[in-house]
Amino acid sequence: MAISLEQIRADFPILQNGAVYLDSGATSLTPTPVVEAVTKYYTDYNANIHRGLYDWSVEATEGYEGAHKTLAAFVNAEHVEEMIFTAGTTSALNVIASMTTANMQPGEEIVTTLLEHHSNFVPWQKAAEAKGLVFKTINVQEDGCLDLEDAKQKITSKTRVVAFTAVSNALGVLTPIKELCALAHENGAIAVVDGAQHIPHFKVDVQDMGCDFYAFSGHKMYGPTGTGGFYARREHLLNMEPVVFGGDMISEVTIQASTWNELPWKFEAGTPHIAGGIGLGVAADYMTSVGLETIEQHEQDMTAYALEVFGTLDGVEVYGPTDPLKRIGVVSFGIGGMHPHDVAELLNRKHIAVRAGHHCAMPLMDHLAIPGTTRASFGIYTSKDDIDALAEAVEYTKSIFTV
Ligand code: ALA
Repeated sequence: MAISLEQIRADFPILQNGAVYLDSGATSLTPTPVVEAVTKYYTDYNANIHRGLYDWSVEATEGYEGAHKTLAAFVNAEHVEEMIFTAGTTSALNVIASMTTANMQPGEEIVTTLLEHHSNFVPWQKAAEAKGLVFKTINVQEDGCLDLEDAKQKITSKTRVVAFTAVSNALGVLTPIKELCALAHENGAIAVVDGAQHIPHFKVDVQDMGCDFYAFSGHKMYGPTGTGGFYARREHLLNMEPVVFGGDMISEVTIQASTWNELPWKFEAGTPHIAGGIGLGVAADYMTSVGLETIEQHEQDMTAYALEVFGTLDGVEVYGPTDPLKRIGVVSFGIGGMHPHDVAELLNRKHIAVRAGHHCAMPLMDHLAIPGTTRASFGIYTSKDDIDALAEAVEYTKSIFTV
């Protein structure tokens, strides 16, 4: 790394608090510049955006709008108005599902995958139920990678939406984003990408991917909780009706009808998380200052190192592909017959913070015929020492259960 891991870790003072934090897939830690930006909003210019004519409100508006510009550039959107802020990936995907299925007809198809987090599964499933749509899921292969041949069968001329994750939250598996977007478009469908576990690790380029929508969370990319949003191609945003109504998204309201504000505010009703949005912009800048290629390389290195170390542990099964280039940021594992919750509790005795359970990916767990996994997930600050400490704690866990 051009910037040292030590320098990065110094930006996260919480790392001094005694835990080995291996749960960045659930939420990343927050660097000092982001904490300071959020605090500064509340201490220096705590005002609402857009309608205030006084200095604090102007500063808040500039900060919040500036963060949209930053995030639009961060994902390489063609136009700044293609960036909509929401409370995170879940709210983004719910809104996208409501808007894109609004005019779908019974018998038309939505295609998603068995790798999905519930937030990119249930909104489509519910829309299908409500509108008589056909809900299909693309299978995964034995190693957890998406089955592209099955995708070619499932995506047809009746498909209107293909919604898929770019990186599985449960296994860390990468999906073939460009191929799936192309398949969707060849069949006249739109491509919706869940980028929640992708944006923390990669330089995102929505134009290169060719997606129509890309949803993400701020709190997984070193920003505040309750932030995030989605990119959408401008033509969709111009043609779609909003599904959340209220202040700030209006152009004119009469007793007869309402018309909408310009993009992107048409899709941001109500007072947003202003401090959070500003902090999200700072988080994106922070990642850019570290270097997006540097981040990707570091997290690939940590993933490869963890797979290597776990390969030496007897009685431990790692789920997902053995090739580190097919995955990133996550090592999900099982120990003998132990329940993942028991494993995580014992690891916590050694101050290792991991996540255990179905990871909100129950269709995938059913497919793998397991109740869940214990999941270690990595961030910009993860070190080989963290992974060695995890491996040592796994040996301790095994000794307690004599696996
Ligand atoms: N979606 C988050 C995770 O995978 C919470 O852990």
